[in-house]
Amino acid sequence: MEKLIVKGGTRLQGTIPVSGCKNAVLPIAVAASILGDGTSVLHNVPNLTDVKTLGAVLEGLSATIKFKNATLYIEPINHLEYEAPYDLVRKMRASIYVLGPLVAKLGKAKVSFPGGCAIGPRPIDLHIRGLEQLGAEVNVEKGYIYAQAERLVGTEMDLIGQHGPSVGATANVMMAATLAQGTTVIRNAAREPHISDLAHFLKAMGADIEGIGTSTLTIHGVKQLRGTEHTVISDDIEAGTYIVAGAITRGDVYVKGITPKQIPAISEKLVEAGVELDWDANGVRVTTPREIQPINVTTAPFPGFPTDMQAQIMGLLCLASGTSVIAENVHTDRFIHAAELNRMGANIMLDDSEATIKGVAKLSGAPVMASDLRAGAVLVAAGMAATGETAVSRVYHIDRGYESIEKKLNDVGANITRVNE
Ligand code: EPZ
Repeated sequence: MEKLIVKGGTRLQGTIPVSGCKNAVLPIAVAASILGDGTSVLHNVPNLTDVKTLGAVLEGLSATIKFKNATLYIEPINHLEYEAPYDLVRKMRASIYVLGPLVAKLGKAKVSFPGGCAIGPRPIDLHIRGLEQLGAEVNVEKGYIYAQAERLVGTEMDLIGQHGPSVGATANVMMAATLAQGTTVIRNAAREPHISDLAHFLKAMGADIEGIGTSTLTIHGVKQLRGTEHTVISDDIEAGTYIVAGAITRGDVYVKGITPKQIPAISEKLVEAGVELDWDANGVRVTTPREIQPINVTTAPFPGFPTDMQAQIMGLLCLASGTSVIAENVHTDRFIHAAELNRMGANIMLDDSEATIKGVAKLSGAPVMASDLRAGAVLVAAGMAATGETAVSRVYHIDRGYESIEKKLNDVGANITRVNE
């Protein structure tokens, strides 16, 4: 396995380009491969292992996927294969996105039950409930989900879960509803930018969707969807991560290819913590002229503060001039990175879904381990700010969601080398 050796004390200066949004391209590629009756071309696709893993799942379903220069060329499935096998689904939870589209297009699906991961059990009851409300018959046996339906029929439903709206369930049900008979109304739909981008893609394929960007989506079923061309939005979480990297190293960084409306809560919280954000039409300049201020953060579905930025802002607040509290309300077990940051000299106490971070004067480099992609990213950022050297192991987590992370950071003054363990 590989690890990243991060030399500390580097102040980032320069431009960091943001890549396409991982959590948008995954469901969009599924829609293009299963729902469309013609070739689709996706631009601004990030070169990530999650994209490659999904490509393997979709090719297993007989789609043809070609990836070249940040463009995905997709020939849809031949309507025969309907099984997503365990050995691929276990690598990436987003494989569950094929369930709804397969039932809508072929009338049946067999998808391995996705595993949990380091941030909690990751149930899919809302996905199953939504598809059953559309008339699918769903059974789970021997670790597989079997779903079938003559024809899905639109209906009104509320997809709220115990932790609020569900990104995945909204994507799965919305995709299935595009080919259902009649109208589907999804109340408490997720409003993340990647859900809106998926909806725009489906509309470009010929779907009839209203309420995009709101918590009520209305989908009028159509008979057929065609292939189309689409440019994927930029990745809000990658952008937020690099804004934090600029701030934590007290650098002067321009994060290129992001807009304020994609990261409202991230911007608000970072400014409250003393980070200066100067926006222009193409991105944002990040400087941190004063001390990092302690703040309180509560993660929530969009437009709240994203759970996928919780680790990153925790890293920044380790160096604040006081005590901050972070409440993680979306995932049930997403503080594993706190112990790793404490190994670097941070002072973080956990109880249940709350982390209390007492700011310290400095962090010191140490061998640490990434437990998920965002935890890995914050350890790299903390390593750049720390004194001494930090070795971040299990880099495969980071590569799932960050394209060429060490190149992007070394181009603006970081000193990171990738080595084999
Ligand atoms: C998506 O996961 C993202 N992944 C996650 O990003 C992100 O953390 C999450 O949304 C929240 O924004 C992708 O888009 C590929 P959810 P998803 O369904 O769809 C509970 C990253 O860092 N829930 O919105 O799995 C669930 O347990 C990854 O890129 C149910 O109870 O998240 C969680 O507590 C990590 N039943 C909450 O809802 C269900 O059927 C939100 O989950 C589904 C979810």
